Amino acid sequence: MDDWIDYYDSTHTIYVSKLHRDVHFEEIARDIVGYISSPDATVLDYACGEALSAAQVADACGKLILAEPAPGVRGRLIARFAPNTKIRVRSLDDLRKMEENSVDLAVMNSVAQYMTPAELDTAFAVIGKLLKPSGKLVLGDILQPDVGMAKDVAALLRFAASHGFIKDALWGLARTAMSDYRQLRAKIGLQRYSEAEMIAKLKAAGLTATRAPRNIGHNPWRMTFVARHAF
Ligand SMILES: C[S@@+](CC[C@H](N)C(=O)[O-])C[C@H]1O[C@@H](n2cnc3c(N)ncnc32)[C@H](O)[C@@H]1O
Repeated sequence: MDDWIDYYDSTHTIYVSKLHRDVHFEEIARDIVGYISSPDATVLDYACGEALSAAQVADACGKLILAEPAPGVRGRLIARFAPNTKIRVRSLDDLRKMEENSVDLAVMNSVAQYMTPAELDTAFAVIGKLLKPSGKLVLGDILQPDVGMAKDVAALLRFAASHGFIKDALWGLARTAMSDYRQLRAKIGLQRYSEAEMIAKLKAAGLTATRAPRNIGHNPWRMTFVARHAF
């Protein structure tokens, strides 16, 4: 296994059970819907993963583009959402060929930590071109330099306790500790940014950003930013 895209394309155990996976995607979808400002908005979910609750997002907007780099995940998305006429599935390369100024809301949740800083700059450039002048980018689940893995564990256990899967979470943590995830986290690591660093990185991409009061998803120790064109 070479990188995080391979990892997410594998039969990984990042979700400790089916219930965990389901409630995770329900929560992410609910949070994305909260950022949709019009029922005919075009929404882009950049590196959406399995996006199990994407139909709820599609219900709240005009068109939903699910972009995902992992080919196996993308194949499942195509099969899962084929009947939904509001949903399109794309690779990240496809996004470069899309019409410019066509997206009202782009969401990139829990992705930046897996990219090199240069890859993230490229993604911001692609998204910047796609966003309408009034469009916004919501960048979620950014890890901070001074917050370690213990907080990820605490957040998962809290989430598990509130949804009744604490036993599975404990087993899942034990499995993850012995898995490819642990090896990749040690070998490649996860990218971390302070609030000021991320705002500066977005500014360099021509976007003005502020930190949102709460993060997307279940981990309150990670950060979400809302960015718009600087002009
Ligand atoms: C934790 S999942 C997040 C999925 C979804 N956005 C969510 O919030 O549940 C990480 C995603 O990042 C993608 N990914 C991993 N490494 C990447 C990279 N270098 N460039 C772009 N996407 C990457 C994976 O394919 C996966 O879909």
